[in-house]
Amino acid sequence: MNIKLRLLVNRDPVDATIDSRVTLLDFLREDLHLTGTKKGCGHGQCGSCTVLIDGKRMLSCLKFVAMVQDCTITTIEDLGNRDVLHPLQTAFVKHDAFQCGFCTPGQIMSAMEVVSDKAACTREQISELMSGNLCRCGAYPNIVSAIMEVKANGGI
Ligand code: FES
Ligand code: FES
Repeated sequence: MNIKLRLLVNRDPVDATIDSRVTLLDFLREDLHLTGTKKGCGHGQCGSCTVLIDGKRMLSCLKFVAMVQDCTITTIEDLGNRDVLHPLQTAFVKHDAFQCGFCTPGQIMSAMEVVSDKAACTREQISELMSGNLCRCGAYPNIVSAIMEVKANGGI
């Protein structure tokens, strides 16, 4: 069934008539061409599709568009650009927190919430809170270091 979808994506209003069963992930990638959000497993196992929905990290492959009506969506494309990186992006580069980079957008969007989480103080706590984001390249220690640095600098 088609629905009239209205939402805010990276601060821009979006209106679309779309099948309610399309996932937010596919809508972002295929319809809005925001391909920074990656499709890994497609069923909630890897975290590569993480975006912010109303400020909270969520797996976009597990959300049908009908579930995000009137929501505010933030994707990796809204964080920085080539000239001015977001502090998390700067820290990821500095700490070598990626190799192939496929998981990186999801890691950074997930970290957006973790850097503000007062329950995440130690490396172990940050690792636990980031455990939903898999990295086949095994960049985990450096990802935690990048997040620790941003937290130490006062967050985002
Ligand atoms: S693509 Fe969404 S969790 Fe893997
Ligand atoms: S950097 Fe390659 S999967 Fe994480």
